[in-house]
Amino acid sequence: MTNWKGRDLLGLRDLSRIEIDQVIACTLEYAKGDPQLNEYLLKGKTLLSAFFQPSTRTRLSHEAAMTQLGGRVIGFGDPKMTRAGDFYQESIRDTFGMLEHYADVIVMRHYERGAPHEAAKWSRVPIINAGDGWGEHPTQVLTDLSTVVSKKGAIDGLHFMLVGDGRMRTMHSICYALAKYEARVTFISPSELTIPSVDLDDIQALGGEVEFADDVHDVLPDADVIYMEPVVQADYSASRVERSGDVGITEEAYKINLAKLQKLAKPDAMVLHSLPRMDELATDVDSSKYAAYWDEAAMGVHLKKALLQLILTDGENR
Ligand code: CP
Repeated sequence: MTNWKGRDLLGLRDLSRIEIDQVIACTLEYAKGDPQLNEYLLKGKTLLSAFFQPSTRTRLSHEAAMTQLGGRVIGFGDPKMTRAGDFYQESIRDTFGMLEHYADVIVMRHYERGAPHEAAKWSRVPIINAGDGWGEHPTQVLTDLSTVVSKKGAIDGLHFMLVGDGRMRTMHSICYALAKYEARVTFISPSELTIPSVDLDDIQALGGEVEFADDVHDVLPDADVIYMEPVVQADYSASRVERSGDVGITEEAYKINLAKLQKLAKPDAMVLHSLPRMDELATDVDSSKYAAYWDEAAMGVHLKKALLQLILTDGENR
């Protein structure tokens, strides 16, 4: 059994298959369990949310998990109201060297790739990376893989079709994770949004193989997991991007709708999307047998409970 207590979760590149399996197993225990059983598990513990970029799901699912396990939550979702976001531009070093005194664990989202790794240098309490720029998004992908295992029983042997922006942090984390399994990965995006070579090199260094295709129509018949991200999306290296004017539309080659799934997909194929979505995933999929993204959203709370249990306790969950 791996000892998670007191550890940071900065990315999936550095986690072993055993460690990923352990988180998934703990998450699935929460998914099937009675929430009342764990309601005092983290009594007396405090989670601090430090979100330097907008979030709906990741921050609130961490906070929901902590409160449902009897813990407390403090933090901020708008860095403009902190000294890191005003005239002083307080450094990560000074900010996290101080925040460590306020909580037992810190969940952090930041627009700079590597910012959680920097924070972890200055914080003696564990840092959970909730998404860093175009870097990684480990909690999202652990949620996604837990959803896959809950529906398919395993990751080995599955064909993952990844569609969207290859700069995206979820794409990096899922490729790092899948490199540790016997899974087939096919990536589809416009050529200008392919996986950057620096990230592809890292994935390949872990033993991961990524095939490339041009159109979802070509891969759908063989895909077990259809993993969608927006093609039209915000710049994740910015602290905030307002919507203004025409945001563009996604080409048909990168879009999924119910008609395509019914015509081309395996009957038991599952569609995942970390959300928010743009026009790449049609709403007519939502109530179909293919849609697994609502289960994925619910799994997000179970995953955060598992992580907080592993990081803040000796492993017991009762
Ligand atoms: N999936 C995800 O990271 O969503 P949020 O940006 O709302 O946290």
